[in-house]
Amino acid sequence: MKLRYALIGCGRIAPNHIAAVMNNAEKVELVAVCDPIPENMEKVLTPVEDTSSIARYTDYKDMLAELKPDLCAIATESGYHAAIAMDCLNAGANLIVEKPIALSLKDADAMIALAEEKGLVLCACHQNRFNKSVQKIREAVEADRFGGLLHGAAHIRWARNENYYKQAPWRGTWAQDGGALMNQCIHNIDLLRWMMGDEVTQVMAYTDRLMHDYIEAEDLGLAVVKFANGAYGLIEGTTNVYPVNLEETLYLFGKEGTVKAGGRSVNLIEEWKFADETEDSEAIKAEFGENPPNIYGFGHTPLYADVIDAVINKRPAYVDGKAGRRALEMVLAIYRSAATGKPVDLPLTDASTLEFEGRF
Ligand SMILES: NC(=O)c1ccc[n+]([C@@H]2O[C@H](COP(=O)([O-])OP(=O)(O)OC[C@H]3O[C@@H](n4cnc5c(N)ncnc54)[C@H](O)[C@@H]3O)[C@@H](O)[C@H]2O)c1
Repeated sequence: MKLRYALIGCGRIAPNHIAAVMNNAEKVELVAVCDPIPENMEKVLTPVEDTSSIARYTDYKDMLAELKPDLCAIATESGYHAAIAMDCLNAGANLIVEKPIALSLKDADAMIALAEEKGLVLCACHQNRFNKSVQKIREAVEADRFGGLLHGAAHIRWARNENYYKQAPWRGTWAQDGGALMNQCIHNIDLLRWMMGDEVTQVMAYTDRLMHDYIEAEDLGLAVVKFANGAYGLIEGTTNVYPVNLEETLYLFGKEGTVKAGGRSVNLIEEWKFADETEDSEAIKAEFGENPPNIYGFGHTPLYADVIDAVINKRPAYVDGKAGRRALEMVLAIYRSAATGKPVDLPLTDASTLEFEGRF
């Protein structure tokens, strides 16, 4: 039997969710789309051949009550994720929540606790973890080929113009989004933390709003991270690059290995050197590089495949709620360090983007 699936939020990223459902059609069936704006629902359904059996709801609560879907995805403004997630979990739906999973740790914790209590799968949509390049690097981390990681660096050098923010005024606000780090850079911040061993002890950071004076939050973030295993991390994230997206790169440096994932969105392997080298690194670069049409990449489809399998086999998702919380905690720790001018020790229990209202 197929899982009955509904999409909540039919904006810019929604087509990737619909495509992921279509690519997993043997196991999941699209039963409804929800959006207060009816045209957005019709637009996102354009690639679906026959939409006659797909319900449209302007209020997702009606959809939950009437259809009781097995699986929902939430792709609304980030500030709404937590409240909608709690409603979905209370209605018995497994969940894929777009990044960031929530805008406060309290909300993220409540979502994780409720999913656990109800025995439901909660996935944070960090789809870049499924990039071929990223999966190959992760394999090397898990096989301990780096001989101990020393430091890692995540650079997100992208461009966002006024038009992008005008299209969706929630972007760049503290109540609904956060700035470059929370919105655009959180994927790579997630990757850096995950690859370097997850456990972070301290963050020191600067953030600023240098160019986009019409948004509330930062357009540049620079941070140094201390990991519990003694390694360090460096984060440089911005939406100020002239004139278009330049690159999103992840470097990992170990005693016996150096790797760089590059391209516009960590979609290529650009360095691959290991002391225990058994493969031809040029072949690795050729085999594990992808050229997606946009920075969102191809990751939604394997992420959906994983979540569907997790629901069927009653196991946690590969990118579970706790992973989403770890990425959120990193960004909030960076924000707090930048706002206070002091190092911030992790773990954090209570941080929220709302703390930073009026910061710039
Ligand atoms: N994974 C990625 O790579 C990626 C990329 C872009 C955006 N995102 C995330 O996806 C989310 C959406 O971003 P976007 O750029 O698509 O935004 P958007 O503004 O283009 O779309 C949001 C949609 O949600 C709808 N919506 C608002 N309230 C709703 C409700 N109560 N019920 C149903 N629909 C509702 C809006 O009407 C709109 O159509 C954000 O959290 C963002 O951070 C993720």
